[in-house]
Amino acid sequence: MTNQHPKRYTVTAALPYTNGPVHIGHLAGVYIPADIYVRYLRAKKQDVIYICGSDEHGVPITIRAQKEGVTPQQIVDKYHEIIKKSFAEFGISFDNYSRTSAPIHHKTASDFFKKLYDEGKFIEETTLQLYDEKARQFLADRFVTGTCPKCGNEQSYGDQCEKCGTSHNATDLINPKSAITGNTPILKETKHWFLPLDQYQEWLKNWILEGHKDDWKPNVLGQVKSWLDDGLKSRAVTRDLDWGIPVPVKGAEGKVLYVWFDAPIGYISSTKEWAEREDKDWQPYWQSPDTKLVHFIGKDNIVFHCIIFPAMLKAEGSFIVPENVPANEFLNLESNKISTSKNWAVWLHEYLLDFPDKQDVLRYVLTANAPETKDNDFTWKDFQARNNNELVAILGNFVNRVMVLTHKYYDGVVPNTNKFYPELGQIKVFADKMGQSIENYKFREALQELMNLARLGNGFLQENEPWKKVNEQPEEVQNIMFTALQITAALAYLSEPFLPFMATQLKNMLQIANKNWDEISVSDGNYLIESGHQIGTAHLLFEKIEDEAIQKQLDKLEATKMQNEKSPSLTLPEGKGIEPQKELITYEQFSAMDIRIGTILEAEKVAKANKLLKLTVDTGVDVRTIVSGIAEHFTPEEVVGQRVQVLVNLAPRNLRGIDSNGMILMTETKEGKLKFVAPVGEVDNGATVR
Ligand code: MF3
Ligand code: ZN
Repeated sequence: MTNQHPKRYTVTAALPYTNGPVHIGHLAGVYIPADIYVRYLRAKKQDVIYICGSDEHGVPITIRAQKEGVTPQQIVDKYHEIIKKSFAEFGISFDNYSRTSAPIHHKTASDFFKKLYDEGKFIEETTLQLYDEKARQFLADRFVTGTCPKCGNEQSYGDQCEKCGTSHNATDLINPKSAITGNTPILKETKHWFLPLDQYQEWLKNWILEGHKDDWKPNVLGQVKSWLDDGLKSRAVTRDLDWGIPVPVKGAEGKVLYVWFDAPIGYISSTKEWAEREDKDWQPYWQSPDTKLVHFIGKDNIVFHCIIFPAMLKAEGSFIVPENVPANEFLNLESNKISTSKNWAVWLHEYLLDFPDKQDVLRYVLTANAPETKDNDFTWKDFQARNNNELVAILGNFVNRVMVLTHKYYDGVVPNTNKFYPELGQIKVFADKMGQSIENYKFREALQELMNLARLGNGFLQENEPWKKVNEQPEEVQNIMFTALQITAALAYLSEPFLPFMATQLKNMLQIANKNWDEISVSDGNYLIESGHQIGTAHLLFEKIEDEAIQKQLDKLEATKMQNEKSPSLTLPEGKGIEPQKELITYEQFSAMDIRIGTILEAEKVAKANKLLKLTVDTGVDVRTIVSGIAEHFTPEEVVGQRVQVLVNLAPRNLRGIDSNGMILMTETKEGKLKFVAPVGEVDNGATVR
């Protein structure tokens, strides 16, 4: 089943949700390993594209928007820019970084759905779904929490239990609660489209559990097996939400594609965007069997990339499926789970404020300690120790000694040689070993080997002590320094996938050009840096990190901890009870609103919009049309003659083709029933409210 000599590689990294910035857990789990992989393949002159983008739909984004009191679009615009910049600053070398709000993605995802729909690949079904009567909204995915039917975790989400990793339907939860209002939802009928995963069960089993039993990671195979053992069921691929890609079929008004249906298609649309810009064809990268498709993800994404998306691709019929899905486990921070809502994280943009130009240090620590086979812990002490004891003391020290001695003994000119030390033969052995490890997704192991080469260099200098022989045995010292320079050049090349900033700096110091990974070898007469070559000036590659800098980070985390203890539920709006007071405004801001007393003269339902009534209102100023979202609470007959307060200078809006000029003020009982805010006593239409 495996593709031994692929003609090209399509490498994807999970599209991050734009509901917050990115942190070290993201980098360690997904983006750094994928970046190492593609940088290595590029160094081997392979045809490879590295594809990513922002995942801008889904419930977490609407929740974040509600929390910040802005629109989902404002949220995604803000975080898309922050995330994209962080990735660029850390040298994550995507060939394309797109976003799922891009028109090309809407079209690609919509067409994908339409094709499956037209070919009868979905089951259309009206079922009972959880509905929050107070929020007047269906609840799915992260909008609902409850007890996991499998492990009993009381904080499971509607789509997935973070404790045991199983994913389920919201209606499977025991004791469901709305995350919006805290209310217990009722069941209400709604129509959706389901992908019958059971029809793909056998195919998935053969493809993964048979075909990839030896080359996929045990954590990935384990999750897939547990899913298949439970027996796959149909899954809804549409949702009742107003944020997302509209379901492109008749009778689906007000429904959008499930975010996990549209997001992975984002890999394809991002590839199309890249191809258009680069004047290439996108199809071979997704449809040609000689392409190796690899998805880098975190463990919470396994089912989506190993079961649901492959089933979608298979159903569609013209796509290849991934050849590997090297999912990582989670990275913790100082023994606690990283959490965006609890602000328990090292945010990349904040790290760079405190450690400017130390991107490679973080890349190094996160790779050396990557959660490849089990959850791992990031600690600031370990960060400091690895920088000081490994990067500075081993790698930096070796390179610096070689640079300084070469300048001192030979004015920076690479000396001649007449001896072939066995260390030189080791260079290719290291390059091959590292390559093997990278191809097997063992990035920690590969990085270990890189450091072992630096250790070998240090040991070589230590053993041969050129500084003691430089006067008595000048020829011997030339041989030693020539050899040490070959090792230094090898380090510049072999470090590139891991420490790209340092690698560039070192290549500049040595004044050497890039090299194909397969040619990183030294044999008699074939060298990485030639005798007579002039090297540039030396700079320190790494510097020691002092205790104060580490203490500052620990203090910051301590402050977060105290903050969380004081107000533990920064997480979700509680909803019950009274809304907190909004921010202060000035009298001018208030008086800019023109609120009048009025009377509703006529009312009618708006076609195909169950929430809207079209009202004719006498505002005293004029008689005008206002569209109001109250149709689920009042019949047209009920509201005719109702006295109301009207915000008359609200900018007009077009709702379902009708111009609405103003807004009727409403309030709400604690059961969620809407009430008019009518004047008390005799007041004429047109009277102002102030
Ligand atoms: N946004 C998801 C997450 O952060 C990952 C989406 S991956 C994709 O968990 F395949 F759907 F794009
Ligand atoms: Zn569970």
